[in-house]
Amino acid sequence: MKYSTTTGTLTELKTDCLVAAKDQCERVAAELGSEALFSAAVLDFEDKPGVTLQINLGTKSAVRKLLVVGGLKGTVTTSDYDKSIKAAAGALKTAKARSAVWALVSARVKDQDNYWKASRGITALNDTLYSFDAYRTAETKPLSLKSVALHADSRSRSPVARAVRHGQAAKAGLDWARDLGNQPPNVCNPSYLLREARKLGRAPNVTVSALDEKKMEELGMGAFLAVTRGSETPGKMIIIRYRGTRRAGEAPIVLVGKGITFDTGGISIKPAANMHEMKWDMCGAATVMGATKAAIEARLPIDLITIVAAAENMPSGRATRPGDIVKTSSGKTVEILNTDAEGRLVLCDALTYAARYKPRTVIDVATLTGAVIVALGAHASAVYANDDDLAQALLDAGEYSGDRGWRMPLWDDYQAALKSQFADVANIGTGGAGSVLAACFLSRFVEGLSWAHLDIAGTAFPRGPQNGATGRPVNMLFRYLINQSG
Ligand code: BES
Ligand code: MN
Ligand code: ZN
Repeated sequence: MKYSTTTGTLTELKTDCLVAAKDQCERVAAELGSEALFSAAVLDFEDKPGVTLQINLGTKSAVRKLLVVGGLKGTVTTSDYDKSIKAAAGALKTAKARSAVWALVSARVKDQDNYWKASRGITALNDTLYSFDAYRTAETKPLSLKSVALHADSRSRSPVARAVRHGQAAKAGLDWARDLGNQPPNVCNPSYLLREARKLGRAPNVTVSALDEKKMEELGMGAFLAVTRGSETPGKMIIIRYRGTRRAGEAPIVLVGKGITFDTGGISIKPAANMHEMKWDMCGAATVMGATKAAIEARLPIDLITIVAAAENMPSGRATRPGDIVKTSSGKTVEILNTDAEGRLVLCDALTYAARYKPRTVIDVATLTGAVIVALGAHASAVYANDDDLAQALLDAGEYSGDRGWRMPLWDDYQAALKSQFADVANIGTGGAGSVLAACFLSRFVEGLSWAHLDIAGTAFPRGPQNGATGRPVNMLFRYLINQSG
């Protein structure tokens, strides 16, 4: 699927499908001599958000099909606009068109400019047009839609072109993140993530490397190694380095992702029901990799380092036991009271490693706790930060891109719950607030850094039968990176 920009008069277009508001469609139909057909077709049309109507003008018509999008009269709110464009994207997916012109940027949306309106349209299309069919041997219908041109006038041309450039990059990152997430756990293991990450190394200014378990041993990463001990597939710490700026000595942004390619819980084993969902426990890794790919494809002028803590959490005769005490690469000791609280263990060594890059910012992303699903459900990723400006920048990026976050507390009051009887800190706490306590655990390993943590267990994949990776929060992260590079 390719996006492009098209200018010129709407009534002179040639396309399989024109996606436009009712009054725009009316003008085009009139120009093409299809007035009667149009007015008959829209007799019962309810012009409101979420409603669409397809009108076939015939194979000889310059515009073969009109996709009339409801709810775009006058000035509309952001949420009504979202509703309209999501319906439009959904209808376009099944419209059997190879090409389309998307003319919805000209709608008036309260407080939003052309760049935002175009970006939002592409986001809706990116969301809707994705599917994962790699393992279906029965016939699957590939998407018929090959290209969407966003219509712009002379004034909106340059912001729309910029949105197309960013939107195409976002799609590449988002699709990749979702594919990685949806791969089954017998395929997507730590070595697979490394092989996939290495593909980024083909781009200019990108290098990909990895620490193997031996190297991690040397670095004293006892917490990471405690998680991977029970598995037959060795853990990897993957490092992607993108140098997008020539400015010497600029401090990089570091992204860190939880890449547990399967989380059985280890010796603190999980119940069987829905355990298969733990193949998505590497979505933090997938989304930081996706955001990185988007940044590289958009050639953002930033220095970015992405660290993926990839491991499998399995029970075995060699696996870590509840009660084991390990030493982390920071020097702090951890009493592992529950081997199912493994994400924070791989992350604490990754965060310690991040500090060596003297970053201006570190952001980790993880499907860290079931508790965050109780707190926020599927609508917002939890945002924790020891830096208010960073938290706000992430919340703003989420709001702007429609991939929301919500700030959670990191007050000192919570820290006492992680007290261990025998070590510096325990890997689980008492007294509820499971997502906050997990964040508090991580906060102990980022002293002196500007740091944020996103708990995405609620947003990375939906519960229930239609579950597939959402790619969240690639859009939030990519928007944050765009803003940081501007
Ligand atoms: N990967 C899970 C968290 C999770 C649960 C993600 C459901 C997505 C959906 C994590 O490793 C985990 O098991 N967390 C435990 C922590 C507990 C042992 C303190 C949890 O949330 O139950
Ligand atoms: Mn777990
Ligand atoms: Zn986990």
